[in-house]
Amino acid sequence: MASCLQISDDEKGHDLELFCVPRHYESDLDKVIIPHGLIMDRTERLARDIIQDMGGHHIVALCVLKGGYKFFADLLDYIKVLNHNSDKSVPLTVDFIRVKSYCNDKSTNSIKVIGGDELSNLAGKNVLIVEDIVETGRTMQTLLSLLNECNPKMVKVVSLLVKRTPRSSGYRPDYIGFEVPDAFLVGYALDYNEYFRDLSHICILNEQAKEKYKM
Ligand code: IMP
Ligand code: MG
Repeated sequence: MASCLQISDDEKGHDLELFCVPRHYESDLDKVIIPHGLIMDRTERLARDIIQDMGGHHIVALCVLKGGYKFFADLLDYIKVLNHNSDKSVPLTVDFIRVKSYCNDKSTNSIKVIGGDELSNLAGKNVLIVEDIVETGRTMQTLLSLLNECNPKMVKVVSLLVKRTPRSSGYRPDYIGFEVPDAFLVGYALDYNEYFRDLSHICILNEQAKEKYKM
């Protein structure tokens, strides 16, 4: 099973005053749970693990928008550094799809995949799906079954976060940054109804904020 950094259920997090948090969000957040620097350090190591396993052949990195965009950009920067500095390197191309499954803080059963090139272009390629967070696992399982119809050579999934929750289907990505408690998390491109993508650290949203930004 993929090893990852465990953030335990009784993790207290860090006081907001210890970090730079946009003024407009100060009253919406309880604690900083994963500071930006730690995200970057863990991402650097994920890049190394991924290249070790997948680095033999052209990789198509598939970003799951919108939540995955920060992680995708930073992960690819680290992969590029490895490609620049080692004797062995592989071509890396990118694609972007949008998957929407959330309303307020609840996962819904309807999962929509929007955009991206023709999925048939993925035939024979090593595909790396880059996702922000896996909760029930339904989004990723739906996406994987769609992709597998296109006969890629290999498909791997990297998710920055996996939530420990009884709602999980049991699905585990191939690479995981952090395993996190069953709370609603925002920041580093993870949103609540589109807010909080403009926050660098991963934080726990408080109950007041769920009301304030409700759709
Ligand atoms: P799943 O299908 O239940 O695994 O949900 C995955 C998707 O739900 C993720 O790609 C996110 O977009 C969204 N999601 C799940 N939990 C959170 C969270 O705590 N904060 C923000 N988005 C979340
Ligand atoms: Mg997502």
